[in-house]
Amino acid sequence: ALQRTLEGVHVAISAGGTREPLDPVRFLGNRSSGKQGYALARVAAQRGARVTLVAGNTADLSTPAGVDLIRVGSAVELRDVMHKVSADADVVVMAAAVADFRPVTPAGHKIKKTSADPDPITLTKNPDILAELVSARREGQVIVGFAAETGDETTSVLDYGRAKLKRKGCDLLVVNAVGDGKAFEQEDNAGWLLSADGAETPIPHGSKAQLASVVWDAVTARSTDSQ
Ligand code: C5P
Repeated sequence: ALQRTLEGVHVAISAGGTREPLDPVRFLGNRSSGKQGYALARVAAQRGARVTLVAGNTADLSTPAGVDLIRVGSAVELRDVMHKVSADADVVVMAAAVADFRPVTPAGHKIKKTSADPDPITLTKNPDILAELVSARREGQVIVGFAAETGDETTSVLDYGRAKLKRKGCDLLVVNAVGDGKAFEQEDNAGWLLSADGAETPIPHGSKAQLASVVWDAVTARSTDSQ
């Protein structure tokens, strides 16, 4: 039987990739499908949560039953909406692939092809939405981040995850390995769930819904501990 362990809990989840406008018809984007964020939303709703799903660009996904969907485009739009919905959320999950940079001043008109060489694209940093939400955290609010990492010769995926958890200040961080066809645009995922209290839970290879279940189990365990 389904355990409705998130009854009465409001969760805000971001999913998908942001699109950073270059001009009215063009953007810089990424390959995020949104599948992991949608799986988190679906499982939370099945467990009885009130779910607000804030989605950037995604694959053609159906909105999970009972979930409120808000569509956004750029990182700056995502930031504004996440601040609004987080003000009333018990749990916030940043599963979106937020662009690190955006074109500094998008052209007001479509950029024309001319015989001259094109202008270079000048980029500026986007805000770190997760870090901002941590700074604005309400009492008792649980904040979950994601880290998609590729390890290298000196540092493993897990070590990058541990460092990111500390740097961002969130309560839980899901680390997953990417590259070599892993995770992005895939149906399955694997990794670790790292907790600010030091607990590290390996997440076995499985569906994105299974990974979502591990996350919601941990969120529920935290709320039970603090009561
Ligand atoms: O630093 P990095 O992009 O790897 O961190 C990933 C985590 O931070 C994810 O939870 C992602 O949604 C969030 N993020 C964010 N704002 C950014 C970049 C990432 O909230 N500008």
